[in-house]
Amino acid sequence: MGVRLLPLAARRLSTMTRQLSPPAKAVLYDDHGPPDKVLRVAEVAPVEIGERDVCVRMLAAPINPSDLNRIEGVYPIRPPLPAAVAGYEGLAQVHALGSGDVDLSPGDWVIPSPPSFGTWQTYIVKPATAWHKNGATSIVGQCVIQLAKLHAIHTINIIRDRQGGTMVTYGGMSKKPVTVSTSSFIFKDLSLRGFWLQKWMNSDKAEESRTMIDYLLDLVHEGKLKYEMELTPFSEFHLALDKALGKHGSRPKQVLKF
Ligand SMILES: NC(=O)c1ccc[n+]([C@@H]2O[C@H](COP(=O)([O-])OP(=O)(O)OC[C@H]3O[C@@H](n4cnc5c(N)ncnc54)[C@H](OP(=O)(O)O)[C@@H]3O)[C@@H](O)[C@H]2O)c1
Repeated sequence: MGVRLLPLAARRLSTMTRQLSPPAKAVLYDDHGPPDKVLRVAEVAPVEIGERDVCVRMLAAPINPSDLNRIEGVYPIRPPLPAAVAGYEGLAQVHALGSGDVDLSPGDWVIPSPPSFGTWQTYIVKPATAWHKNGATSIVGQCVIQLAKLHAIHTINIIRDRQGGTMVTYGGMSKKPVTVSTSSFIFKDLSLRGFWLQKWMNSDKAEESRTMIDYLLDLVHEGKLKYEMELTPFSEFHLALDKALGKHGSRPKQVLKF
């Protein structure tokens, strides 16, 4: 994964002739802790756009539970500190290209593929290969139910009424263990397992995951896959964060609009 954005200092302006990104604003943290305590919005100096790099302007980025867990320091993969830029997914528009031959043009909409650190900022410079043309993000629960219906897959709603079945755990919002009765294991042949999207995307399945994203986007365009979200301007980042942290009650997925 090409995390070439950090450390920024190494790529800062040192000559007059190199192509540079515009000055940016980013949501940074230096220590792990409660997101509403450790996050700060700061100016980021322009960085050099290398030959095979692309400078994108972020259009939107979700505040996902896993982003909050990374900031808290309880997620298995986290960016190095200090001055980590938060955010892991998002939609961007190509702003400028390095001098090399890359398969992107100014104005293209792209997503980080695989997802990678640092999407909560206005401009990002990364290798062209770190981006996939097309883009959107999704809200897991709503989407899984709709996708399961489209593929005639029975979801957990009916597992407990059946003999056998597999319960797949993909999230742990309550941070509590999964508990299952022994009788479900013994008499109903229940199986438990977990799923981690990042492991799947970071494996040798880059092409497969891009095909999957395109498939999901087609469903969105056809109106077969719908999800709720609330766009909040980046200038009101702390309000969006408070909503994502549940301080304003149950809210749809918060998406920062740059
Ligand atoms: N395994 C993977 O690869 C993978 C990939 C993506 C996401 N996930 C996980 O999937 C889960 C949902 O992600 P999302 O993006 O769909 O989330 P989301 O749209 O931000 O929604 C969060 C959901 O969690 C609920 N919630 C909040 N605090 C809770 C608590 N203490 N106990 C129980 N539920 C709580 C919220 O309920 P209210 O509406 O009532 O507040 C809401 O339904 C997260 O745990 C995330 O980490 C896993």
